[in-house]
Amino acid sequence: MHPFAPKEQAGGYLQIVQELSEYLCKITAFDACSLQPNSGAQGEYAGLLAIRNYHESRGESHRNVILIPISAHGTNPASAVMAGYKVVIVKALENGYIDVADMKAKAEQYKDNLAGVMITYPSTYGVYEESVKEICQIIHDNGGQVYMDGANMNAQVGLTAPGLIGADVCHLNLHKTFAIPHGGGGPGMGPICVAKHLAPFLPGHVELNDNKASHAVSAAPFGSASILLISYAYIRLLGRAGVKKSTEYAILNANYMKARLENAYDILYTGVSGTCAHEFIVDLRPFKGTAGIEAEDVAKRLMDYGFHAPTMSFPVPGTIMIEPTESEDKAELDRFCDALLSIREEIRAVEEGKADKANNVLKNAPHTQAVITADDWTRPYGRQQAAFPWNT
Ligand SMILES: Cc1ncc(COP(=O)(O)O)c(C=O)c1O
Repeated sequence: MHPFAPKEQAGGYLQIVQELSEYLCKITAFDACSLQPNSGAQGEYAGLLAIRNYHESRGESHRNVILIPISAHGTNPASAVMAGYKVVIVKALENGYIDVADMKAKAEQYKDNLAGVMITYPSTYGVYEESVKEICQIIHDNGGQVYMDGANMNAQVGLTAPGLIGADVCHLNLHKTFAIPHGGGGPGMGPICVAKHLAPFLPGHVELNDNKASHAVSAAPFGSASILLISYAYIRLLGRAGVKKSTEYAILNANYMKARLENAYDILYTGVSGTCAHEFIVDLRPFKGTAGIEAEDVAKRLMDYGFHAPTMSFPVPGTIMIEPTESEDKAELDRFCDALLSIREEIRAVEEGKADKANNVLKNAPHTQAVITADDWTRPYGRQQAAFPWNT
């Protein structure tokens, strides 16, 4: 369907758009939705414009400061700057939580010009911040609006919601939480949902004749509309109980993997109960000192075990972040944990001097077909250990 096809020819799409918007509003506990943004980052931009235009409508266009915690995804400050804001960074505590005292001090310091905050819940460190409601209150008390980055909604859907927590606007990464394939550079969708007072400031579009205060943020009125069908089907097929179960499995899977790995690796940041949300960070930095092994060596070695490495060096350089989601079965989670446990033993061999510090399976990974089928083999370990570590 062409994005500018006459409306009378796009009745099915309009129905999907309408119903999906309603589902997303229910899930986020908000009142209105725009399916226009094509990515999470574009959703951030659209949400921040809504906040800007809201302040402007109240004669407060001077509010131009956005607080952003140091743990935020890089798109947060980038979107804020693109939307014309001044960014002020808020510190994190040792345990990864937002430093609420610093947040409060900065909200009060910039009280007169505070536009809002951007927070991610659970945070990009994989923890549910106990202080999230308090943070929303602090921002509201100082005249700001709360933008919740919903990229981690996989840990909220059916259990809680940005609107219940106290946020005013959030984006959803449909290409994460709602089944649109993520990665590979394919199209994404980053719709935003907002509370009632921000509804008039959702992106407008000339095709919709809606005379909105905010301009369009993408060329087509409903973004990459064809892929909305995937999220629509996901929600319809799973239903209310099913989407909640997805969240529970995502959290359970991450905690299961964490439990399997935590004796072999340091896990950065957990909540007060010692658990993580739907993702956790494995600290690989110590191995640089003990074995000269770095995060990229582990990522490369995972290829020899048949895996694409998880998120690397975000949000903490020298670490990997594991986010299994609800989609993998236990056998696959175990296979991945077994690979990481086996890699830990390979690192130990270097630490104990049993393997060479510069010429070892990790440093030389990945072992491609060209490498292992070469006539010459001069490595201090065998071809099988190099390319088929499961069999050795
Ligand atoms: C916490 C967080 N915020 C925002 C984004 C941006 O989303 P997108 O890549 O769709 O622009 C991501 C993407 O991974 C993210 O993890």
